[in-house]
Amino acid sequence: MIDYADEDVGNIVLLEHVNLQVPDQSLAILFYIVGLGFTRDPYFNIGLRNMWANVGEQQFHLPTRPVQVLHGHMGIVVPDFDALKERLASVEEGLAGTKFSWSVKADHIAVTCPWGNRFQCYAAGSSFGDMALGVPYVEFLIAPDRAAGIARFYDQVLGAPATTESGKQGTLARVKIGRNQSLIFREANESAEYDGHHLAIYVANFSRPYNFLKSRGLISEEVRNHQFRFKEVVDPENGSGVFLVEHEVRSLHHPMYRRFLVNRDPLESARRYRRGRDALIPYTD
Ligand SMILES: [Fe+2]
Repeated sequence: MIDYADEDVGNIVLLEHVNLQVPDQSLAILFYIVGLGFTRDPYFNIGLRNMWANVGEQQFHLPTRPVQVLHGHMGIVVPDFDALKERLASVEEGLAGTKFSWSVKADHIAVTCPWGNRFQCYAAGSSFGDMALGVPYVEFLIAPDRAAGIARFYDQVLGAPATTESGKQGTLARVKIGRNQSLIFREANESAEYDGHHLAIYVANFSRPYNFLKSRGLISEEVRNHQFRFKEVVDPENGSGVFLVEHEVRSLHHPMYRRFLVNRDPLESARRYRRGRDALIPYTD
């Protein structure tokens, strides 16, 4: 009997942005906009103090401040692998002397930003649903023996289906978000100090996670404009802290929920101009 569980989504309906401070906007433009082919949001934030880079239905928020590096990597889906290789090659010279690097792996292109943030870029395909451009997952490297407690937190506190897996690649917790996104927490022996980067998620049920966290003193920023923040992921079985990363938690009443994000087709240029094709639709057919 088909149970149609694949049609279900959990309480976290969207992972919208990852916020990573960058020390230099000109290098950030070269990497995120020219190299990766993302689109600078034309509405905000403009100027030299912050940039929002649109990637399908997701964004990177890139304020100009001391660098932040996520301990792990971010998955990216792109519509055209060969075009990405060309773009990355085109920024090599401009990013020389930074941590920028890229290499082609079996099923993805591994890319490191000028300051050490790592990305794995995949071609759109059935494992990413109808996403042709976007951020399908963020993977954090975590301390050993933490995956189970992290899975319990997302499952029981945030209401997001979470499972643990153990295999050749070690042990990880996988948290389902919306139709085609996830957070992955992979146990590793390397550790890094948390430096303050954050994620923004939208939740259908806002009050239950808020009340759980509030009753334990874990709200790091009180509700304002349909949003609160917390940093500490705790195992609901015993209350012990198992991971640190700031979450901006927004309800679906937040004015920016499902804000239309402008995406350009980075293949457009004055030399190879195709009339009416400036916009990119971030979904597969
Ligand atoms: Fe944010």
